[in-house]
Amino acid sequence: MRSKNLMVTGGCGFIGTNFICYLLEKPGFSGRIINVDKLTYAGNPENLEGVEERYSGRYVFQKADICDAEAIKAIFTEYQVDAICHFAAESHVDRSIKNPESFIHSNIVGTFNLLEIARAGGSRFELFHHISTDEVYGSLGPEGLFTEETPYRPNSPYSASKAASDHLVRAYHETFGLPTTISNCSNNYGPYQFPEKLIPLIIMNAVEWKPLPVYGDGKNVRDWLYVTDHCEAIWTIMQAGERGGTYNIGGDSEMENIAIVEMICDMLDGIIPPPDGRSRRDLITFVTDRPGHDRRYAIDFSKLNKSLGWRPQESFQTGLRKTIQWYLDHRVWCERIETGEYRQWLKEHYGQG
Ligand code: NAD
Ligand code: TYD
Repeated sequence: MRSKNLMVTGGCGFIGTNFICYLLEKPGFSGRIINVDKLTYAGNPENLEGVEERYSGRYVFQKADICDAEAIKAIFTEYQVDAICHFAAESHVDRSIKNPESFIHSNIVGTFNLLEIARAGGSRFELFHHISTDEVYGSLGPEGLFTEETPYRPNSPYSASKAASDHLVRAYHETFGLPTTISNCSNNYGPYQFPEKLIPLIIMNAVEWKPLPVYGDGKNVRDWLYVTDHCEAIWTIMQAGERGGTYNIGGDSEMENIAIVEMICDMLDGIIPPPDGRSRRDLITFVTDRPGHDRRYAIDFSKLNKSLGWRPQESFQTGLRKTIQWYLDHRVWCERIETGEYRQWLKEHYGQG
């Protein structure tokens, strides 16, 4: 993997951007990254502005849809791609409930196209790494953790589309011998996350003294993974993971949503004290629950820890503090998103313009 031509799909999204920045700085990687992204509402090429110049000859951006087999084939051939790290997907559960169609196309058909192109690459093709989610396993009760053996029980159109893509990747290994690895991770947070997801949405609203929407009773639990820890885990698996294998990646940080929202309010009150002695907690607004809302996710990552030595480095406290500071330091990035299509979606979703 160290000096290869690596196609990264969805590199202008949240995790893809972080992964590209992480890998180009990694001393063990001297290869070239070919970032293929369709630039949906969630893809922001400004995230990687200046990277091509900074890492001359080691980074290239190609705007393309993974559903367009001809376009992807041409890029694959032109850049002599040795490996693919596949992030590109429609990624937001709420959008999949409102409009599932694009999830079926990008997440299932798009993954199928990439697998076919990788397979046609023959024996010189080295690895297809597929990024997936713990949401394929469904919802946990108060006890227990998802392991790699947990049966798939996806509950949203998003998680069902990711489950389908996981099955395709697995099948291409079993049937065609394609060298694959799959990782199923928990909820990520950190710099560059699009502010439709819980943590950036709450930070940005709290900065602007807007209502903080909490679904249902706020007691749903997610296991939060700082994005840099995730990048490190992906690279570890790509280099040394068993081909055909699946690895769970978790942050060891189970939190109820309401506790996160309160932490963000308190941290922000500490950094930017409210002028009139108010608390941002007053902005918390319980709203109608998401249909089919999974109650709890929690990951057992002992396979990855025991076999490849990875474990998360960031605690939720330290990771959240860094994340809040990043959003405070990148107000222009936030504002440009707020004035784009995202604004319209927020309006339709929350009646908030
Ligand atoms: P994101 O929505 O921020 O970014 C997705 C990127 O993919 C965007 O740049 C978008 O333009 C691109 N894209 C979408 N459809 C495309 C298509 N048809 N062709 C080419 N590009 C396309 O998503 P993210 O949060 O960075 O997630 C990346 C991957 O990680 C996804 O596969 C997601 O399912 C998975 N994942 C994310 C999380 C999380 O908490 N964010 C957790 C588990 C798994
Ligand atoms: P989200 O960031 O959308 O990720 P996912 O649905 O993939 O877990 O949501 C995280 C949790 O926060 C989930 O339980 C839904 C909840 N949530 C809210 O309470 N309010 C919000 O405005 C959003 C976007 C999410």
